[in-house]
Amino acid sequence: MLRTHTCGELNISNLGQTVILCGWVQKSRDLGGTTFIDVRDRYGLTQLVFNTDTDATLREKSRELGREFVIKVTGKVLERSNKNTKIPTGEVEIAVADIEILNAAKIPPFMIEDDTDGGEELRAKYRYLDLRRAPIRNNLILRHKMAQEIRRYLSDLEFIEVETPVLIKSTPEGARDFVVPSRMNPGEFYALPQSPQTFKQLLMVSGFDRYFQIVKCFRDEDLRADRQPEFTQIDCELSFITQEDILNIFEGLTRHLFTTVKGIDLGDFPRMQYADAMRLYGSDKPDVRFGMEFVELNDIVKGKGFGIFDNAELVVGINAKGLASYTRKQIDELTEWLKRPQIGVTGMIYCRYNEDGTLKSSVDKFYSEDELTNWAAAFEAEKGDLMLILAGPTDKVRKQLNELRLEIGGRLGLRDKNKFAPLWVLDFPLLEWDEETERFHAMHHPFTSPKPEDIALLDTDPKNVRANAYDLVINGTEVGGGSIRIHDRATQSLMFKHLGFSAEEAQKQFGFLMDAFEYGAPPHGGLALGFDRLVSIFAGLDSIRDVIAFPKNNSGRDVMIDSPSTIADMQMNELKIKTTV
Ligand code: AMO
Repeated sequence: MLRTHTCGELNISNLGQTVILCGWVQKSRDLGGTTFIDVRDRYGLTQLVFNTDTDATLREKSRELGREFVIKVTGKVLERSNKNTKIPTGEVEIAVADIEILNAAKIPPFMIEDDTDGGEELRAKYRYLDLRRAPIRNNLILRHKMAQEIRRYLSDLEFIEVETPVLIKSTPEGARDFVVPSRMNPGEFYALPQSPQTFKQLLMVSGFDRYFQIVKCFRDEDLRADRQPEFTQIDCELSFITQEDILNIFEGLTRHLFTTVKGIDLGDFPRMQYADAMRLYGSDKPDVRFGMEFVELNDIVKGKGFGIFDNAELVVGINAKGLASYTRKQIDELTEWLKRPQIGVTGMIYCRYNEDGTLKSSVDKFYSEDELTNWAAAFEAEKGDLMLILAGPTDKVRKQLNELRLEIGGRLGLRDKNKFAPLWVLDFPLLEWDEETERFHAMHHPFTSPKPEDIALLDTDPKNVRANAYDLVINGTEVGGGSIRIHDRATQSLMFKHLGFSAEEAQKQFGFLMDAFEYGAPPHGGLALGFDRLVSIFAGLDSIRDVIAFPKNNSGRDVMIDSPSTIADMQMNELKIKTTV
């Protein structure tokens, strides 16, 4: 090796040793007769000291060095007079006897420091430089540690890691497919997997019993902070299990990660029915780091002559604790925020519980103070609280109030990144009505089994059929989801029928799976955790981008390698996508 030590390991115990270090120049300070240089590698920083008074060659060389030059130095470990207690190597420095420049570097386009001056676009273009910064590097080290622990935990429970193909055909997970043209089969396309769903089920038919894979998945969908077009799942499937077994195993895995990687014991995860999550939080992924549950008011507010409440399907609110001091202006601002097209509220009603015990609402004309006392009781409000109320169609108003709840939770400092609140959400609906296509879609995916007691409702009341499906939520992020699968041809065909597939279409697209079900398919089920999301929660980040080495931007572009890009006409011809004239 070119070096004897890394830049992060020397300390007082190495005093007097002659060592060789390699790394990048972090910064250089020329103090007249002495020059100090910090050299950096993945492991840390070490201070180099050049006595430039006595050694002319060293003086020359030290002056050539710029930021990010790659160097190799030989020198003796000395005790520092001016110690830095913030870094592990801070008690020593290297008195340089020889230096070799391994490679020069241009001045980087932004500071390679923990707090950089580089904007997002610039850092994305020079991602390889951004990755030199400790915060980003540490995220990837964290990711590695978590992957190690996941493999260890699952292997110990007899899970086998099996790789499934990437050039496949459509697996419906609710997004569009990325497709790849096949040169050898002109006019035909592979699809990249949105998940290995069908393959992992086939592995169960093959008798693998317990499968896992840390696997790339591809989805062509609108991007958000927690969505990338290619992302990684911890994908698992098990045979001969119940839903309860699956919840226990993956609760165990998540707790194991929290204890081994973060030293936090999360305790038993609470569980909530999907219907309750929607009723109490207006979301299938409630952030339960804080309460502020919805309070439904239909029974106490209707019939008093206030049209907006009388005509609404649902009147529902939250108690913003301690915010009675909000001024009219602040409340108006909040209302304007809710009126943005993304949320689309038409108006908000409020009621202040003043410190002097009086109640004051924005609809005093319709409600007496006595009636407002009933409101306060429903909200369990105390002096100093502010009740915020929305009205409208149930699904819509719940969604809107969810946004308001999260915003208020944020303003009240209740969404602490160092607090972790896991939650299982259970019994999702099997089907979801899609306004655009005017059809039912599988809420999870078409391989999810309905609750046996609800199957009869498929014909009469499809919306209310519940699935054997569950999601793992942490701090309001959907970290994972899964289900007990259908494992017989008849039920799978019935499911496709209800999703609007003709028997021919179903056979063409998923015949291979239904055929397999006829050759001894065991009862099975599984789940997939979003690995990027899990790591970003561990790292306390809002976006998954910084836990991915080379992520895409919001337009799905990699601006470093400039992808996607056009391809040569010759390639297009070969792929029979377009012929030149
Ligand atoms: P699902 O579609 O719920 O289930 O995906 C599982 C988890 O993957 C993560 N995830 C994403 N992460 C980043 N970017 C994305 N675009 C993205 N999309 C999804 C989420 C999500 O909870 N085959 C089923 C699992 C199963 O039934 O076993 C599936 O893929 O954290």
